[in-house]
Amino acid sequence: LQELKSLQQSHSKLHLLQIDLKDFDKYGEIVKQVEEVTGSDGLNVLFNSAGVSPRSSFLGLRALKASELLDTFSVNCVAPLMLTKAFIPLLKKAAKANKSAPLGVTRAVVVNMSSILGSIETNVDGSLYHYRVTKSGINAATKSMSIDLKNDGIMAVSMHPGWVKTDMGGEKAPMEVEESCEKMIETIYGLDASKNGGFIQYDGSSLPW
Ligand SMILES: NC(=O)c1ccc[n+]([C@@H]2O[C@H](COP(=O)([O-])OP(=O)(O)OC[C@H]3O[C@@H](n4cnc5c(N)ncnc54)[C@H](OP(=O)(O)O)[C@@H]3O)[C@@H](O)[C@H]2O)c1
Repeated sequence: LQELKSLQQSHSKLHLLQIDLKDFDKYGEIVKQVEEVTGSDGLNVLFNSAGVSPRSSFLGLRALKASELLDTFSVNCVAPLMLTKAFIPLLKKAAKANKSAPLGVTRAVVVNMSSILGSIETNVDGSLYHYRVTKSGINAATKSMSIDLKNDGIMAVSMHPGWVKTDMGGEKAPMEVEESCEKMIETIYGLDASKNGGFIQYDGSSLPW
């Protein structure tokens, strides 16, 4: 938060709004706050980035607790789905305001932060139940969103940011935050209808489901 606050001092267009995404009843309030900033332009990009991965994930099936599984599901899957639902009016507004543009950021895009660990096809190591099932879940939701929202000019993709040096990614991760973010932004700017409903990574290349 401190980092964001100092960024805000040098970037007047950056607005910070705080929410605990497990507090589903507050979504209406956050949409109103965003609408106060975006006005008649609507919202062009909703990037659902928050995620959790409990340490016990590494201990496999024997350490699995229903409470931790449900908690992870709330943040990694229910939150991005319900937040997207809440933001649909603002996304529609942006897509409508730029009706003649092709699908993409000029209209409206939902980016759901997934992970390669949500890929069922590439899972050769097993375990990591909390994380894998919730990221596979958001991948399934992305696909449905991409179909359901297409006629409103809103597209949806699942994004893997790479293995990145963050609190979650850890020190051993090969990619710096700046590199991952720069590439994701470039990829999001370049999105078109061919990527709608896709599972892509930071550099825009497709990943197996
Ligand atoms: N790092 C990687 O290598 C990697 C790889 C694949 C996918 N991802 C995905 O990338 C996304 C970002 O992860 P990260 O690497 O930046 O992890 P991180 O350093 O652990 O950050 C997670 C972020 O999610 C927020 N968050 C968690 N629970 C929340 C809640 N209930 N309400 C609001 N915000 C909440 C945290 O906010 P607070 O700090 O306020 O708690 C924090 O900003 C996640 O979806 C993660 O699964 C990361």
